[in-house]
Order: sequence, then structure tokens, then C-alpha cells
Amino acid sequence: MMRSTLSLLISLSFSLLLLHGTTATPTPSPSPILRPKTDLIKETCKTSAKADSNIAYKFCVTSLQVVPKSHTTNLQGLGLITTMLIKNNLTHTHSRIRNLLKKPKFSKDMRSCLKVCLECYDEAIYTIKEVNSAIMGKRYNDANNGATTVMTLATTCEDVFSEVEMKSLFTKNNDDVFQLVEMDFQIINMLR
Ligand SMILES: *[C@@H]1O[C@H](CO)[C@@H](O)[C@H](O)[C@H]1NC(C)=O
Repeated sequence: MMRSTLSLLISLSFSLLLLHGTTATPTPSPSPILRPKTDLIKETCKTSAKADSNIAYKFCVTSLQVVPKSHTTNLQGLGLITTMLIKNNLTHTHSRIRNLLKKPKFSKDMRSCLKVCLECYDEAIYTIKEVNSAIMGKRYNDANNGATTVMTLATTCEDVFSEVEMKSLFTKNNDDVFQLVEMDFQIINMLR
């Protein structure tokens, strides 16, 4: 049952993915690469937060600033760094879920949710690696589509708990992933 829900949601993600391609509003691109004097992180985060209200400027700047390479790279580099942050986040949560599944204390429903989340994160880690290669290869449509899939998978994990009227254990993790993926969308849009 959970599995069929998952595959339904994954196929849904592909239709959403097509939808995303057609409804995505073009982001005004200030081409920060052409202005090396400005702080690229702040510039990129300002543009992103303005274009997408789900992105908090402060979260964006803080997330990027902790990575030393952020300060010397170009916009494509920031896209790769954001993608790497997503991958770290997903990997961390994936192992957290695996550890939780080792514990016998959870109800049957909770275990089912955890299993769905584990599968989602598994798939999301695979997909985010493809986003990384797509950005490296300047295949920005592929990158955008992969990011959409990651978003859908994280949403699936978050929503599966409410299906059995339970509280998600991963709201904070999922919210971080959502926001990082929104940042990735914006950067990918500026790049293409
Ligand atoms: C996820 O990423 C955010 C932003 O980079 C960070 O603050 C948070 O600690 C990360 N969470 C995990 C579980 O890695």
C-alpha cells in the first residue's frame, strides 16, 4: 500500500516536472558573473529571495557562507555548492532514518512511514548526484528536472506521516531540503 502510494507520487512527480518546465516564470537575471566587484553570495541570495518567497535571504546566505569555496567561485560554482549541501542534507537524514528503523519502539504505522522516507531519500540521493553532473555539463533543463524530483521526494516523505495522522519526524530536515532545492532552482534559472 505504502509502496503503491510512493510509486504514484513518483509518477506524479514526473507530471509535475513537465508542468514545472512550462509554468516556471523566467527569473530576471542580473548576471552576477559579470560583476566581480559585488558579493556573489549576497547578490544571488537577494535575487533568489526576491523571486521566491520560500527562500529566506538569511538562510541562503548562511548556508552558502559556511562553505569556504563559495567566496571565490562563480554562479555555476554556487549551483554546485548548493547541490552538494542538498546531498549532505539528504545523506544525513537518510542515515538518521536507517538508525531509527533499527529501534523496535515504533508502531507499525510509524515504521511504514520511516520505510517510505528511507526509499524517498534513497532515490533523492541518487537524483541529486545527477543534478550535480547536469550542472557540471551545463545541462540546465536536466538539472531543473532532477531538482523537481528531489523536491517531490522530500514532500512525499513529509506528507506520508499525515496520511496515518502522525507527526513527521523530519519536518526540520525536509524544510531545509525544500529551501535548498528552491535555491538550486533559482541558481539554475539564472544560469540558463
Ligand atoms: C541541512 O542544511 C542546512 C543548510 O545548509 C543546515 O543548516 C543543516 O544543518 C543541514 N542539516 C543536516 C541534517 O545536514
